[in-house]
Amino acid sequence: MTTTATGSGTFKIGGDLEVTRLGYGAMRILGEGVWGPPKDPEAAKAVLRRLPELGVDFIDTADAYGPEISEQLIHDALHPYGDIKIATKAGFTRQGPGRWAPVGRPEYLRQCAELSLRRLEVETLDLWQLHRIDAKVDREEQFAELKALQDEGKVRHLGLSEVTIEEIEAASKVFEVTTVQNQFNLIDRKSQDVLDYCTEKGIGFIPWNPLAIGKLNEPGAPGADIAAAHDATPGQIALAWLLQRSPVMLPIPGTSSIEHLEENVAAAGIRLTDDEIATLNAVA
Ligand SMILES: NC(=O)c1ccc[n+]([C@@H]2O[C@H](COP(=O)([O-])OP(=O)(O)OC[C@H]3O[C@@H](n4cnc5c(N)ncnc54)[C@H](OP(=O)(O)O)[C@@H]3O)[C@@H](O)[C@H]2O)c1
Repeated sequence: MTTTATGSGTFKIGGDLEVTRLGYGAMRILGEGVWGPPKDPEAAKAVLRRLPELGVDFIDTADAYGPEISEQLIHDALHPYGDIKIATKAGFTRQGPGRWAPVGRPEYLRQCAELSLRRLEVETLDLWQLHRIDAKVDREEQFAELKALQDEGKVRHLGLSEVTIEEIEAASKVFEVTTVQNQFNLIDRKSQDVLDYCTEKGIGFIPWNPLAIGKLNEPGAPGADIAAAHDATPGQIALAWLLQRSPVMLPIPGTSSIEHLEENVAAAGIRLTDDEIATLNAVA
Protein backbone atom coordinates (compact mmCIF):
# COMPACT_ATOMS: atom_id res chain seq x y z
CA MET A 1 0.00 0.00 0.00
CA THR A 2 1.33 3.48 -0.86
CA THR A 3 1.91 5.75 2.14
CA THR A 4 0.32 9.17 1.71
CA ALA A 5 1.33 12.54 3.14
CA THR A 6 -1.56 12.44 5.62
CA GLY A 7 0.66 10.95 8.33
CA SER A 8 2.57 14.23 8.56
CA GLY A 9 -0.47 15.95 10.08
CA THR A 10 -1.70 19.37 9.14
CA PHE A 11 -0.84 23.01 9.81
CA LYS A 12 -3.08 26.04 9.44
CA ILE A 13 -1.21 28.82 7.64
CA GLY A 14 -2.39 32.15 9.07
CA GLY A 15 -4.72 30.16 11.31
CA ASP A 16 -7.11 29.18 8.50
CA LEU A 17 -5.34 27.81 5.41
CA GLU A 18 -4.97 24.16 6.34
CA VAL A 19 -2.26 22.18 4.58
CA THR A 20 -0.84 18.72 5.03
CA ARG A 21 2.60 19.36 6.47
CA LEU A 22 4.64 17.37 3.95
CA GLY A 23 4.40 19.38 0.74
CA TYR A 24 6.16 19.55 -2.61
CA GLY A 25 8.64 22.02 -4.10
CA ALA A 26 8.10 22.66 -7.81
CA MET A 27 11.59 23.97 -8.61
CA ARG A 28 12.95 20.70 -9.99
CA ILE A 29 10.53 20.31 -12.91
CA LEU A 30 12.47 22.70 -15.14
CA GLY A 31 15.53 22.87 -17.35
CA GLU A 32 19.10 22.89 -16.04
CA GLY A 33 19.76 25.73 -13.58
CA VAL A 34 15.99 26.19 -13.00
CA TRP A 35 15.92 27.79 -16.46
CA GLY A 36 13.65 26.95 -19.37
CA PRO A 37 11.27 24.02 -19.85
CA PRO A 38 11.96 20.51 -18.57
CA LYS A 39 13.28 17.94 -21.03
CA ASP A 40 9.96 16.13 -20.83
CA PRO A 41 7.01 18.42 -19.95
CA GLU A 42 4.56 15.48 -19.91
CA ALA A 43 6.68 13.70 -17.30
CA ALA A 44 6.77 16.89 -15.21
CA LYS A 45 2.99 17.15 -15.37
CA ALA A 46 2.68 13.48 -14.40
CA VAL A 47 4.69 14.20 -11.23
CA LEU A 48 2.34 17.09 -10.42
CA ARG A 49 -0.77 14.97 -11.06
CA ARG A 50 0.54 12.33 -8.67
CA LEU A 51 0.53 14.86 -5.79
CA PRO A 52 -3.19 14.79 -4.93
CA GLU A 53 -3.20 10.99 -5.26
CA LEU A 54 -0.51 10.92 -2.59
CA GLY A 55 -2.39 13.32 -0.31
CA VAL A 56 0.00 16.23 -0.96
CA ASP A 57 -2.05 19.43 -0.99
CA PHE A 58 0.67 22.08 -0.58
CA ILE A 59 2.86 23.10 -3.53
CA ASP A 60 5.65 25.66 -3.34
CA THR A 61 6.62 27.49 -6.52
CA ALA A 62 7.78 30.93 -7.69
CA ASP A 63 7.35 33.13 -10.72
CA ALA A 64 11.14 32.91 -11.04
CA TYR A 65 11.18 29.12 -11.55
CA GLY A 66 11.67 28.82 -15.30
CA PRO A 67 10.84 31.73 -15.04
CA GLU A 68 7.04 31.35 -15.34
CA ILE A 69 7.22 27.71 -16.45
CA SER A 70 6.76 26.07 -13.03
CA GLU A 71 3.53 28.02 -12.48
CA GLN A 72 2.37 27.21 -16.02
CA LEU A 73 3.00 23.48 -15.57
CA ILE A 74 1.14 23.52 -12.24
CA HIS A 75 -1.75 25.24 -13.98
CA ASP A 76 -1.78 22.86 -16.92
CA ALA A 77 -1.52 19.75 -14.75
CA LEU A 78 -3.82 20.64 -11.88
CA HIS A 79 -6.21 23.54 -12.60
CA PRO A 80 -8.83 23.76 -11.10
CA TYR A 81 -6.92 22.94 -7.97
CA GLY A 82 -9.53 21.43 -5.67
CA ASP A 83 -7.95 21.06 -2.20
CA ILE A 84 -4.47 21.99 -3.37
CA LYS A 85 -3.02 25.21 -2.00
CA ILE A 86 -0.28 26.93 -3.97
CA ALA A 87 2.41 29.05 -2.41
CA THR A 88 4.19 31.21 -4.95
CA LYS A 89 6.81 33.93 -4.65
CA ALA A 90 7.88 37.22 -6.19
CA GLY A 91 10.80 39.60 -6.17
CA PHE A 92 13.58 37.45 -7.64
CA THR A 93 14.53 38.02 -11.29
CA ARG A 94 16.46 35.74 -13.60
CA GLN A 95 19.31 36.47 -15.98
CA GLY A 96 20.00 32.91 -17.15
CA PRO A 97 20.55 29.38 -15.78
CA GLY A 98 21.47 29.51 -12.09
CA ARG A 99 21.39 33.32 -12.05
CA TRP A 100 19.11 35.18 -9.64
CA ALA A 101 18.84 38.83 -8.58
CA PRO A 102 16.34 40.47 -6.22
CA VAL A 103 14.17 43.31 -7.52
CA GLY A 104 11.78 44.74 -4.92
CA ARG A 105 10.47 47.90 -6.56
CA PRO A 106 6.77 48.05 -5.62
CA GLU A 107 5.66 48.35 -9.27
CA TYR A 108 7.58 45.20 -10.09
CA LEU A 109 6.21 43.25 -7.12
CA ARG A 110 2.71 44.21 -8.21
CA GLN A 111 3.41 43.02 -11.74
CA CYS A 112 4.66 39.70 -10.31
CA ALA A 113 1.42 39.24 -8.37
CA GLU A 114 -0.75 40.12 -11.36
CA LEU A 115 1.10 37.71 -13.63
CA SER A 116 1.07 34.86 -11.08
CA LEU A 117 -2.70 35.36 -10.77
CA ARG A 118 -3.00 35.18 -14.55
CA ARG A 119 -0.73 32.16 -14.99
CA LEU A 120 -2.27 30.18 -12.14
CA GLU A 121 -5.75 31.37 -13.24
CA VAL A 122 -6.96 32.22 -9.75
CA GLU A 123 -8.53 35.32 -8.25
CA THR A 124 -6.46 35.16 -5.07
CA LEU A 125 -3.02 33.71 -4.42
CA ASP A 126 -3.22 31.35 -1.40
CA LEU A 127 0.21 32.23 -0.06
CA TRP A 128 2.47 34.84 -1.64
CA GLN A 129 6.06 35.04 -0.46
CA LEU A 130 8.59 37.80 -0.94
CA HIS A 131 11.36 35.65 -2.44
CA ARG A 132 14.07 38.02 -1.20
CA ILE A 133 14.03 41.43 0.42
CA ASP A 134 15.79 43.68 -2.09
CA ALA A 135 18.56 45.53 -0.22
CA LYS A 136 18.55 48.27 -2.92
CA VAL A 137 14.94 49.24 -2.19
CA ASP A 138 13.57 50.57 1.11
CA ARG A 139 12.14 47.43 2.73
CA GLU A 140 9.19 49.39 4.08
CA GLU A 141 8.11 50.09 0.48
CA GLN A 142 8.28 46.37 -0.31
CA PHE A 143 6.30 45.42 2.80
CA ALA A 144 3.70 48.12 2.07
CA GLU A 145 3.11 46.79 -1.44
CA LEU A 146 2.60 43.25 -0.13
CA LYS A 147 0.09 44.56 2.38
CA ALA A 148 -1.70 46.62 -0.31
CA LEU A 149 -2.11 43.54 -2.53
CA GLN A 150 -3.47 41.61 0.44
CA ASP A 151 -5.92 44.42 1.28
CA GLU A 152 -7.11 44.34 -2.34
CA GLY A 153 -7.87 40.62 -2.02
CA LYS A 154 -5.27 39.53 -4.56
CA VAL A 155 -3.36 37.60 -1.93
CA ARG A 156 -4.70 35.63 0.99
CA HIS A 157 -1.60 35.11 3.14
CA LEU A 158 1.86 36.62 3.05
CA GLY A 159 5.25 35.07 3.73
CA LEU A 160 8.96 35.85 3.60
CA SER A 161 11.99 33.95 2.39
CA GLU A 162 15.63 33.94 3.57
CA VAL A 163 15.12 36.37 6.41
CA THR A 164 16.39 37.05 9.91
CA ILE A 165 14.29 37.42 13.05
CA GLU A 166 14.84 41.17 12.88
CA GLU A 167 13.41 41.23 9.35
CA ILE A 168 10.40 39.13 10.34
CA GLU A 169 9.72 41.54 13.19
CA ALA A 170 10.03 44.56 10.89
CA ALA A 171 7.62 43.05 8.35
CA SER A 172 5.22 42.02 11.13
CA LYS A 173 4.63 45.70 11.88
CA VAL A 174 3.11 46.02 8.40
CA PHE A 175 1.36 42.66 7.79
CA GLU A 176 0.93 39.29 9.40
CA VAL A 177 3.89 37.11 8.46
CA THR A 178 2.29 33.68 8.16
CA THR A 179 5.26 31.70 6.79
CA VAL A 180 9.02 31.95 6.58
CA GLN A 181 10.96 29.97 3.99
CA ASN A 182 14.65 29.58 4.87
CA GLN A 183 17.28 27.00 3.97
CA PHE A 184 17.27 24.27 6.61
CA ASN A 185 18.01 20.57 6.75
CA LEU A 186 19.76 17.92 8.84
CA ILE A 187 23.22 19.20 7.87
CA ASP A 188 22.46 22.93 7.51
CA ARG A 189 20.90 24.53 10.56
CA LYS A 190 22.01 28.15 10.15
CA SER A 191 18.35 29.13 10.52
CA GLN A 192 17.73 27.27 13.78
CA ASP A 193 17.13 30.60 15.58
CA VAL A 194 14.52 31.57 12.97
CA LEU A 195 12.88 28.15 13.27
CA ASP A 196 12.69 28.54 17.07
CA TYR A 197 11.15 31.99 16.62
CA CYS A 198 8.57 30.66 14.14
CA THR A 199 7.72 27.74 16.43
CA GLU A 200 7.14 30.13 19.33
CA LYS A 201 4.98 32.48 17.23
CA GLY A 202 3.07 29.78 15.30
CA ILE A 203 4.51 30.95 11.96
CA GLY A 204 4.80 28.19 9.33
CA PHE A 205 8.47 27.38 8.64
CA ILE A 206 9.15 26.08 5.12
CA PRO A 207 12.66 24.62 4.96
CA TRP A 208 14.10 24.83 1.47
CA ASN A 209 16.69 22.24 0.37
CA PRO A 210 15.20 19.78 2.92
CA LEU A 211 17.24 17.00 1.26
CA ALA A 212 20.35 19.16 0.82
CA ILE A 213 19.72 18.83 -2.94
CA GLY A 214 19.91 15.04 -2.84
CA LYS A 215 23.03 14.84 -0.63
CA LEU A 216 20.93 13.38 2.17
CA ASN A 217 19.65 10.65 -0.19
CA GLU A 218 23.08 9.22 -0.91
CA PRO A 219 24.04 5.85 0.56
CA GLY A 220 26.00 6.47 3.74
CA ALA A 221 24.39 9.88 4.28
CA PRO A 222 23.87 10.89 7.92
CA GLY A 223 21.15 8.73 9.44
CA ALA A 224 21.90 5.73 7.21
CA ASP A 225 21.99 3.35 10.24
CA ILE A 226 18.67 4.67 11.51
CA ALA A 227 17.27 4.34 7.99
CA ALA A 228 18.24 0.67 7.90
CA ALA A 229 16.41 0.07 11.19
CA HIS A 230 13.23 1.57 9.68
CA ASP A 231 13.65 -0.17 6.34
CA ALA A 232 13.82 3.35 4.94
CA THR A 233 16.25 5.51 3.00
CA PRO A 234 18.49 8.20 4.57
CA GLY A 235 16.48 10.83 2.68
CA GLN A 236 13.27 9.63 4.29
CA ILE A 237 14.91 9.83 7.71
CA ALA A 238 16.04 13.42 6.97
CA LEU A 239 12.43 14.36 6.15
CA ALA A 240 11.00 12.51 9.18
CA TRP A 241 13.54 14.34 11.37
CA LEU A 242 12.35 17.69 9.98
CA LEU A 243 8.70 16.83 10.57
CA GLN A 244 9.40 15.88 14.19
CA ARG A 245 11.59 18.92 14.85
CA SER A 246 8.72 21.41 15.04
CA PRO A 247 4.93 21.40 14.58
CA VAL A 248 5.26 24.45 12.29
CA MET A 249 7.70 22.66 9.93
CA LEU A 250 6.40 22.35 6.33
CA PRO A 251 9.03 20.52 4.25
CA ILE A 252 8.75 20.85 0.47
CA PRO A 253 11.16 18.30 -1.04
CA GLY A 254 11.64 18.91 -4.75
CA THR A 255 11.82 16.18 -7.36
CA SER A 256 11.26 15.57 -11.05
CA SER A 257 10.61 11.85 -10.50
CA ILE A 258 7.42 10.05 -9.50
CA GLU A 259 9.47 7.34 -7.84
CA HIS A 260 11.36 9.88 -5.69
CA LEU A 261 8.12 11.68 -4.93
CA GLU A 262 6.54 8.49 -3.61
CA GLU A 263 9.62 7.77 -1.54
CA ASN A 264 9.66 11.29 -0.08
CA VAL A 265 5.95 11.22 0.76
CA ALA A 266 6.36 7.88 2.52
CA ALA A 267 8.56 9.68 5.08
CA ALA A 268 5.30 10.99 6.55
CA GLY A 269 4.68 7.49 7.91
CA ILE A 270 7.99 7.22 9.82
CA ARG A 271 8.12 7.85 13.58
CA LEU A 272 11.60 8.35 15.01
CA THR A 273 12.28 7.44 18.64
CA ASP A 274 13.69 9.98 21.10
CA ASP A 275 17.06 8.21 20.95
CA GLU A 276 17.10 8.35 17.14
CA ILE A 277 16.23 12.04 17.20
CA ALA A 278 19.04 12.67 19.71
CA THR A 279 21.49 10.87 17.40
CA LEU A 280 20.31 12.91 14.40
CA ASN A 281 20.40 16.15 16.39
CA ALA A 282 24.09 15.49 17.01
CA VAL A 283 24.84 15.17 13.28
CA ALA A 284 25.24 18.86 12.40
N1 LIG B 1 13.07 30.23 -1.03
C1 LIG B 1 14.15 29.93 -1.69
O1 LIG B 1 15.05 30.76 -1.87
C2 LIG B 1 14.31 28.56 -2.26
C3 LIG B 1 15.57 28.11 -2.72
C4 LIG B 1 15.67 26.80 -3.21
C5 LIG B 1 14.55 25.99 -3.22
N2 LIG B 1 13.33 26.46 -2.79
C6 LIG B 1 12.14 25.60 -2.76
O2 LIG B 1 12.43 24.48 -1.96
C7 LIG B 1 12.13 23.28 -2.67
C8 LIG B 1 13.05 22.17 -2.22
O3 LIG B 1 14.42 22.54 -2.41
P1 LIG B 1 15.29 21.90 -3.59
O4 LIG B 1 14.39 21.28 -4.61
O5 LIG B 1 16.23 22.95 -4.03
O6 LIG B 1 16.17 20.84 -2.83
P2 LIG B 1 15.85 19.43 -2.11
O7 LIG B 1 14.39 19.23 -1.95
O8 LIG B 1 16.74 19.40 -0.90
O9 LIG B 1 16.47 18.38 -3.13
C9 LIG B 1 15.99 18.23 -4.44
C10 LIG B 1 17.02 17.38 -5.18
O10 LIG B 1 17.10 16.10 -4.57
C11 LIG B 1 16.79 15.07 -5.52
N3 LIG B 1 15.87 14.14 -4.86
C12 LIG B 1 14.62 14.42 -4.36
N4 LIG B 1 14.08 13.30 -3.84
C13 LIG B 1 14.99 12.31 -3.99
C14 LIG B 1 14.99 10.94 -3.65
N5 LIG B 1 13.95 10.39 -3.04
N6 LIG B 1 16.09 10.21 -3.96
C15 LIG B 1 17.15 10.76 -4.58
N7 LIG B 1 17.22 12.07 -4.93
C16 LIG B 1 16.13 12.85 -4.64
C17 LIG B 1 16.13 15.75 -6.68
O11 LIG B 1 16.48 15.09 -7.88
P3 LIG B 1 15.35 14.29 -8.74
O12 LIG B 1 14.62 15.33 -9.51
O13 LIG B 1 16.18 13.39 -9.59
O14 LIG B 1 14.49 13.55 -7.77
C18 LIG B 1 16.69 17.16 -6.63
O15 LIG B 1 17.89 17.25 -7.35
C19 LIG B 1 12.32 23.69 -4.14
O16 LIG B 1 11.72 22.77 -5.02
C20 LIG B 1 11.70 25.07 -4.12
O17 LIG B 1 10.28 24.96 -4.17
C21 LIG B 1 13.22 27.72 -2.30
